Amino acid sequence: MIARIRGNSKIEGEITVGGAKNSSLPILASLVLISEEIKIEKIPDISDVSEMISMIRSAGIAVNFEKNTVSARPSNLKGEIREFGSSIRASILLLGPLAVRTGHAELRYPGGCLIGKRSIDIHIEGLKKLGISVNEKNDMIEAVFDKVPEDVRIDLRFPSVGATEHLMMTSVLLNGIHTEIRNCAKEPEIVDLGKFLNSMGAKISGVGTDRISIDGVKKLNASVHSVIGDRIETGTYIIGALSSGGMLKINGISNNVMRNVTNELKKIGAKITASENALIVYPSDLRPFKLSTGPYPQFPTDLQPQMTLLACHVNGHSEITETVFEQRFGHVDELKKMGADISVDKNKIEVMPSKLHGAKLVGNDLRETATILFAAATADGPSEIEKFEIIFRGYENIYKKLKDIGIDFEILKIDREVS
Ligand code: UD1
Repeated sequence: MIARIRGNSKIEGEITVGGAKNSSLPILASLVLISEEIKIEKIPDISDVSEMISMIRSAGIAVNFEKNTVSARPSNLKGEIREFGSSIRASILLLGPLAVRTGHAELRYPGGCLIGKRSIDIHIEGLKKLGISVNEKNDMIEAVFDKVPEDVRIDLRFPSVGATEHLMMTSVLLNGIHTEIRNCAKEPEIVDLGKFLNSMGAKISGVGTDRISIDGVKKLNASVHSVIGDRIETGTYIIGALSSGGMLKINGISNNVMRNVTNELKKIGAKITASENALIVYPSDLRPFKLSTGPYPQFPTDLQPQMTLLACHVNGHSEITETVFEQRFGHVDELKKMGADISVDKNKIEVMPSKLHGAKLVGNDLRETATILFAAATADGPSEIEKFEIIFRGYENIYKKLKDIGIDFEILKIDREVS
């Protein structure tokens, strides 16, 4: 799919962000643990969610997804999912829970954005402690569960978001077993997953800290849950507005989960006000900055490409260090095609003030595509973005939202069906 973006736009107006992709994917994966009817609200209608729903349906969970609400009930659970899952990294989250419930799980090897090695060694090491042996064979991955003889302690070598969620979900139904996970990731989406599981009767404590404890229970009960707003979608729109000098109101997001980002932006001169469930971004004179990404509450790596774009629009030399993914620099070459004065040295991006012009661009991962979309919107002259469909993986209702904030675009070529 190719999108033509007109350029010379000011990003301004009002939008409402959707539920968090990174909460929805683990919450949906955890539905293979349910024994009763579950309802989840504010699930974003994006293609990564469609892929995860296809996977859990294939595992035997009956799912209805309408108007951002998922209703699910258990049916005939099976551990093998061969048809789906290779395009999202979060598919790995099904491995442990399915192994615990069925004794044997087999999935396609997890995919996702090409931003680094994205190894799964931390997941596998943790699963082993939980009595699950994992074999990788060609493009499939297999897990076999026997039983956990005694209480378990897992120390993560790095606070991986996915591994923290995966091991938490896998431990929930280990009836009578106490599991303690240390050096956990603390992202708000992990807290959301913990709240959801506890609302069904799981016994998890410590979510949002670096030490999570789980007392395994026999079964989970019926529940209703509402997913938190998407921090990264919100951050993308905030940074887009700041890079264009527009005023933008963003609804549907709690200020609490954005504070680590908005504080960093305020330090460089951004004018942002917050009420209970909305943020307003004002035209601001920004200073050059030094920034490093890291596990929450440090600055999110998923907003690093967007910050690189913002650095082009400030008056001086900025430096951004990427510490989470070793290859998250694809956006740099695309921004260079638009005239950006940027260089990368190891994991540090150096950016000089640059006036961007339209160009032929291609996005290779989700946040890179979002970044070049906003770069193209504010650049001088039109741009074309190839593989534009990647944006549907994580940005809900994007056509309407782009129109609502003044971005003029047309779709030139559709070469495959997108949901
Ligand atoms: C999640 C988010 C993603 C975000 C990332 C970091 C979801 C669905 N995705 O991805 O948007 O960019 O957190 O905030 O929530 N690692 C290993 N071995 C492992 C696991 C991870 O070496 O077993 C490394 C990864 O290669 C990466 C780093 O740890 O360099 C962080 O990965 P992780 O926190 O696991 O990210 P994801 O859960 O994949």
